[in-house]
Amino acid sequence: MQQKQALCSQELEPAHNVVSWKNPIRTAVGWNDKYQIASTTLIIAVSNIKGGAGKTTTSIHLGQWYQQQGISVAVADADPQGSAANWCRFLDIESFLEPDSGVLVDRLLDLRESVDRIVVDCPGNEASIKDILDVADAILIPCLPGGLDLHATNQTLQLARRKQRAQQKRFAVLLFINRARKGTLLSSDVAEALRQQQEFSVAETTIYDRQAIANMPGQETTVWDCRDRAAKESAREFASLFEELETLLSAYA
Ligand SMILES: Nc1ncnc2c1ncn2[C@@H]1O[C@H](COP(=O)(O)OP(=O)(O)O)[C@@H](O)[C@H]1O
Ligand SMILES: [Mg+2]
Repeated sequence: MQQKQALCSQELEPAHNVVSWKNPIRTAVGWNDKYQIASTTLIIAVSNIKGGAGKTTTSIHLGQWYQQQGISVAVADADPQGSAANWCRFLDIESFLEPDSGVLVDRLLDLRESVDRIVVDCPGNEASIKDILDVADAILIPCLPGGLDLHATNQTLQLARRKQRAQQKRFAVLLFINRARKGTLLSSDVAEALRQQQEFSVAETTIYDRQAIANMPGQETTVWDCRDRAAKESAREFASLFEELETLLSAYA
């Protein structure tokens, strides 16, 4: 593990290696030179009813990114398959598996006392997502660039919309295109369609489809642990996406 982390810090761009104070969330008003960090504990649900959209991949990369920034984090795996909790074991990220959403909600609320960010890898089950959204502060939605996928994303957005209305306050919703293919128009068409829903934010950053990412779970690593060029590009994209997320969160916190 130590070896992996050493590799990580060598490979990070200087701008990502910004941990210049001990705990940015609890001790500072959350600023660094590139993006803002919200200063409260937040529960971030990574969700899309559609299976295979990239929820687990995104949750793990987000968890590791927070860890690299010196922000304390736990990844809650709400999917009975337990892939996220399993993956976290190889990365030394605090995590647990809790497929019972009733029990999970209590654990999430308890955890808020001890960590700054809780990333919830949501299952595709609508009832569980509703329970999780009850306590979540934000939802990050990976969207595949296809018409049918847009339909599944709309179902997820419907749940987010209900949550916003029930709370009568804005609730941070960030959508992004995952597995985009270079040189195709489909991704930008889908991003455009998503932007029509003005109450939600659509990330400027796109995560491209790369074999380097598809290989990750099997290798029990993340793109930050890999030396090849494609993985480095993906690492930059993920970092840029997560910076966008933090900037959005700081506007809502
Ligand atoms: N940007 C990407 N490029 C290539 N493969 C990806 C990408 N995002 C996810 N995948 C792959 O797609 C599959 C589904 O991703 P996963 O994160 O498990 O989705 P979910 O948790 O939503 O079911 C996995 O095999 C994963 O490695
Ligand atoms: Mg999953």
